[in-house]
Amino acid sequence: MTTAELPEDTLVFADECKAFLEPYMPPKKGSGTASDIAWTTLTFATSLDSQLALSPGTRTVLSGPDSKAMTHYLRSRHDAIMIGVGTVVADDPGLNCRLKGVGGYGEVGLKGQPRPVIIDPKARWNFSDTSKIFCMLREGRGRAPYIITSLAMPPPEKTALLERYGGKFITLPLVTSPDGKEQLEWRSILAALKKEGLESVMVEGGGAVINSLLEPRSQEFIESVIVTIAPTWLGQGGVVVSPPRRFEGGQVIPASRLTSVCWQPFGEDVVLCGKIKL
Ligand SMILES: NC(=O)c1ccc[n+]([C@@H]2O[C@H](COP(=O)([O-])OP(=O)(O)OC[C@H]3O[C@@H](n4cnc5c(N)ncnc54)[C@H](OP(=O)(O)O)[C@@H]3O)[C@@H](O)[C@H]2O)c1
Repeated sequence: MTTAELPEDTLVFADECKAFLEPYMPPKKGSGTASDIAWTTLTFATSLDSQLALSPGTRTVLSGPDSKAMTHYLRSRHDAIMIGVGTVVADDPGLNCRLKGVGGYGEVGLKGQPRPVIIDPKARWNFSDTSKIFCMLREGRGRAPYIITSLAMPPPEKTALLERYGGKFITLPLVTSPDGKEQLEWRSILAALKKEGLESVMVEGGGAVINSLLEPRSQEFIESVIVTIAPTWLGQGGVVVSPPRRFEGGQVIPASRLTSVCWQPFGEDVVLCGKIKL
């Protein structure tokens, strides 16, 4: 594929912008980490009032073109990208990597294209041949999704469509959390990815997925956090990133904090990288 033939939506991320991200990147594929779970990066774009979108079910553009290219560079560095069913229903995203130099964008095959993974415990995403993920796949610009569900027998017509494209359902048990919620456990999700040969995953959202991953019993699984902060307030009523309150000795304490922090201006946005302080 020559430059002239690159898809119109191809993104370029300059080499000189990559260095500050390196300490937060997963180990190189096949470097043989002993862990039995996928290496996990939490990444999203937020407003100044810690919101991801104007309202649940709405797609809201927050980051500028520079940070968007960065997100696609990050996708190229992970084996999998993950979102919740709320996001896939709201946004119908392509969930591929549009960076120049990956498969479908100047490189042959699907080299550098991450596996989309969707958390959908009740298998309620009503996908079809025309869903954007499958359009990308037919054009050789993305992979088929894996859907993490709690259903032992997901709907056969959905299974058939997924499998036709090379995707699949992965069934995991729901577990009752200390506050009585029936949830998929992050350890079992990340272990299932590792078993599939997916050594790293970038968790992108939305609000419920991020808040669940930031709960005290799960945040230890996060290796890196990379947040794009856009200079805008969305106003009340949007999709908020705010993990559950945490108590120690009867006192409220911060839910989480970052350490090894780096701030990098990016166009009009700022990118914050850090590690969860455990
Ligand atoms: N700014 C950004 O970077 C960004 C990124 C992604 C998404 N978004 C926005 O975020 C919004 C969607 O967020 P959202 O909170 O509504 O949806 P979401 O987080 O994408 O999906 C939420 C659903 O995922 C399932 N889920 C999440 N964690 C789970 C767990 N631990 N165990 C079991 N199930 C779990 C639940 O499904 P059930 O309800 O079926 O149980 C839950 O309702 C959209 O407007 C989207 O545009 C923004």
